[in-house]
Amino acid sequence: MPATVPDSAAPQAAPPAESVGPLERGLALLRTMALDPAPRQRPSDLARTTGFARSTVDRITTTLVRLGYLRSDGRDLVLAPRAAEFGNAYLAGSRLPELLGPPAVELADRLDESVSIAVPDGAGARFVVQATRRRTMAVSFRIGDLLPAERCAPGALFAAEWDSGQRTSWLRHHGDPTEAGFAVAPSRMVEPDEFLERARLARVQGWSVDDQLIETGLVAVAVPVRDPSGSAVCAVSVVSHTSRHDAHSLADHALPQLRHTAREMERRLADPTAVTTTPSGVSSSRAFKDELGSGFLQSLARGLDVLLALGAAPGHHTLAAVARATGLPRATARRALITLQCLGYVGTEGEGFRLLPRVLELGYTRLAGLSLPEIAEPHLIDLVRTVHESASMAVLDGPDIRYIARVPTSRIMRLDITVGTRLPAFATSMGRVLLGAVPEAELLELLRDMRRDQLTDVTVTDPVALAATIRSAAREGHAMVDQELEEGLRSIAVPLHGGHGEVLAAVNIALHAGRGTPAETRAGLLPALRETAAAIAADLSLARRWTGAPPA
Ligand code: PHB
Repeated sequence: MPATVPDSAAPQAAPPAESVGPLERGLALLRTMALDPAPRQRPSDLARTTGFARSTVDRITTTLVRLGYLRSDGRDLVLAPRAAEFGNAYLAGSRLPELLGPPAVELADRLDESVSIAVPDGAGARFVVQATRRRTMAVSFRIGDLLPAERCAPGALFAAEWDSGQRTSWLRHHGDPTEAGFAVAPSRMVEPDEFLERARLARVQGWSVDDQLIETGLVAVAVPVRDPSGSAVCAVSVVSHTSRHDAHSLADHALPQLRHTAREMERRLADPTAVTTTPSGVSSSRAFKDELGSGFLQSLARGLDVLLALGAAPGHHTLAAVARATGLPRATARRALITLQCLGYVGTEGEGFRLLPRVLELGYTRLAGLSLPEIAEPHLIDLVRTVHESASMAVLDGPDIRYIARVPTSRIMRLDITVGTRLPAFATSMGRVLLGAVPEAELLELLRDMRRDQLTDVTVTDPVALAATIRSAAREGHAMVDQELEEGLRSIAVPLHGGHGEVLAAVNIALHAGRGTPAETRAGLLPALRETAAAIAADLSLARRWTGAPPA
């Protein structure tokens, strides 16, 4: 078996003496958390599931919390969006989403069917791009999900290129329901001969089909995408449902365009244009070590820096380059690379090292699937702990704002607001921030068409005056509304920006107007509110770097 393709089904060999124990155990703990269906775990659960001593679990989690990869929430531990950096590093270094994402989206638009790209990963196929048009389908796979080779269209294409060692390994392990890490169970119902025949046919025909191998109704057709050396880097699939196509009519319908897209993808792989490199996330592990002493596992932190450094630029990286990028001594970087290689996260080619798709198992799928409210909530909780006032997030919904997250304080407020509550946009601070993103030419018309009730003595209802207030709030980057919605209620809001500067939502703090002058409210609360919005935006950009639109 080639050194670059570790077999996910085969048990790992015992680590070499040079392997870095804390890095090995730290990654095992991250993997355990990521694969557990429960999103939060107690340290005692982790000691049980990993088999590590409780003190080991504590030192690993202290380190990972300090580095921002885990968050502690009361007694529970949760993967933090920053852990998406590992998967992001693989996806950036592979360049597959960057180079092949656009033609995949184009094909999905043209066929009006889902299109996905998967890479070979041991005895499976792991998704790296999804251009989704799910309609009547029940299952929906996400970037990072791993399917057993025998249960998907790309798997037969990859198996067509297996050597005898990989075939033997698959024959030994396939269908083992205890195999962790697959998004669906491997199948015992698939006869080995039947699958190997499908793989042979895939090789001869140059395409393969999934006729409801995963679930009734789901059909897919896949073709390989090869690099200039001729090996299949990935497979691109068109996925449909038997309500629209049977497997054969899907092949007839999709194959010509699918092949055309695969050739375009091959051209892009052969001649990649502008390379986007990102600085690797070298951590401040020295400072953390000084702060936490023996509770902080510096070798774990350094190993994770090595992992991230491999994703900072495409292609293979020499040991010297990794040492330079991380600022680590060569011997330290080398031991981290050996450990990562041994665990199947790093592959080698000659003198070079690169990340392997298995890195995506370190929490990527879960984190990339977090909704905006899920990402925002911990930050809103922190804000409420700091300012002791209620904090919320809302989006524009017609003439209203609709709350999508809310963290109340224990103070009594007359307004009873929960997630889903709607309030008139024109009279709320979040509404005015959100209306600030409406194009100038449309705003006045929009305000004129809205119902604008005189809710209190001071509610501004004149559309021209409102437009001017909204414009000036947009210029200043915040809006304050003082007792215009309800007597005694003041609120201050800022926009939450997406990666392209677009306004995704608004974040606010609401308080009793008796708690100071408006100027005092602004001076006292605006800096913390802005910091919160920036922290939410940073997490969101980590979680969404390689995914399309946020999940609804
Ligand atoms: C998918 O993208 O969801 C997909 C692709 C190929 C399959 C099954 C599902 O065979």
